[in-house]
Amino acid sequence: MAEHLTVGRVAELAGVSVRTLHHDDEIGLVRPSARTAAGYRAYLADDIERLREVLAYRRLGFGLREIADLVDDPAADAIGHLRRLRGLLLEQRDRAAAMVTAIDQELEARAMGIRTTPEDQLRVFGAQLYEVIGSAYPATRRTEPRIAERIWAALGDARTVLNVGAGTGSYEPPDRDVTAVEPSAVMRAQRPAGAAPCVAASAESLPFEDRSFDAAMAVSTVHHWPDPVAGLREMRRVARRVVVFTYDASSPGWQDRFWLTRDYLPEFAELLSGRPALADLTRAIGGRAEPVPVPWDCTDGFFEAHWRRPEAYLDEQVRRAVSVWTRVGPSAELRAVENLRADLASGRWAERNRDLLDLDAAELGLRLLTA
Ligand SMILES: C[S@@+](CC[C@H](N)C(=O)[O-])C[C@H]1O[C@@H](n2cnc3c(N)ncnc32)[C@H](O)[C@@H]1O
Repeated sequence: MAEHLTVGRVAELAGVSVRTLHHDDEIGLVRPSARTAAGYRAYLADDIERLREVLAYRRLGFGLREIADLVDDPAADAIGHLRRLRGLLLEQRDRAAAMVTAIDQELEARAMGIRTTPEDQLRVFGAQLYEVIGSAYPATRRTEPRIAERIWAALGDARTVLNVGAGTGSYEPPDRDVTAVEPSAVMRAQRPAGAAPCVAASAESLPFEDRSFDAAMAVSTVHHWPDPVAGLREMRRVARRVVVFTYDASSPGWQDRFWLTRDYLPEFAELLSGRPALADLTRAIGGRAEPVPVPWDCTDGFFEAHWRRPEAYLDEQVRRAVSVWTRVGPSAELRAVENLRADLASGRWAERNRDLLDLDAAELGLRLLTA
């Protein structure tokens, strides 16, 4: 028999009880595939590898059902699992670091006798998304020149421009005097050397006097703001002109506009439920909305960017730079990706989406709001 480890030895090495290992065996999560001469359970190298994955996912807080789906994922080999685990662990580390920072800030405030608001106390559990996922952003997110052209044209002759929710600096016009606003320290830290100066603040409370800028712009960010209407009013207050690149999740049947949401990730709709309609956003700045088609070879890897290149969504790196995938959770993500992988292999995706293959650009609900 190949080299094996007894259940007692495995329990000792992994720091779990023999009872836990027996239970994992009974429910089919980790089945030792050999027996010793005396008939006891014995673990071979592959069993140990699977156990390591199960223990790691368990430590990350996944439930039994989710762990079973993850370790049985036919598309992930040992290297795939290690990469996925590494990504999840880095996310957990960044989330913990963000919580430590928030707790330190609250301790400091209390020491100074300042009472924190309910919003301050809860922010650490909610709006820290980019502290957690931000480090994956620059790999696939960058200025798409054809969209930038539209945004820069809409800025007109503005000389001073405020970029709100600026992230790593995409779409900042190189020929104007730009000031950036970005609440996430992780995103601010990734702005390239020589990028416009960046202020740590949020859209809902811009630390500038009325009419301080010729124009204010916000790109792919409004859907993250806790109060989009308040943020847009702030932009209107501090600038004479406002340009916003956002998404219309209110026109009838919008969920069916994009095959990824329609056929694989219906959970996307839940993320946007209760958010203001496009008409409310437009009203907040007193402007109008125009469609922005997404080119088939869009270079900014946002959620819809790969509509004619479906294989891209199988790539973990592409998904990690788009918050939707983190927000729907690992079970929905895994299901969507595996169903897409199967449909690509069987030709079902191509059959259903034949019409797209001749298009150079698609109308997927992206809008430019100008005022
Ligand atoms: C998808 S990124 C877009 C970044 C950049 N505008 C771009 O086009 O690459 C969304 C950004 O919005 C920021 N954000 C989240 N909440 C915000 C708020 N309340 N006010 C301003 N920015 C916010 C996030 O930290 C993140 O950097």
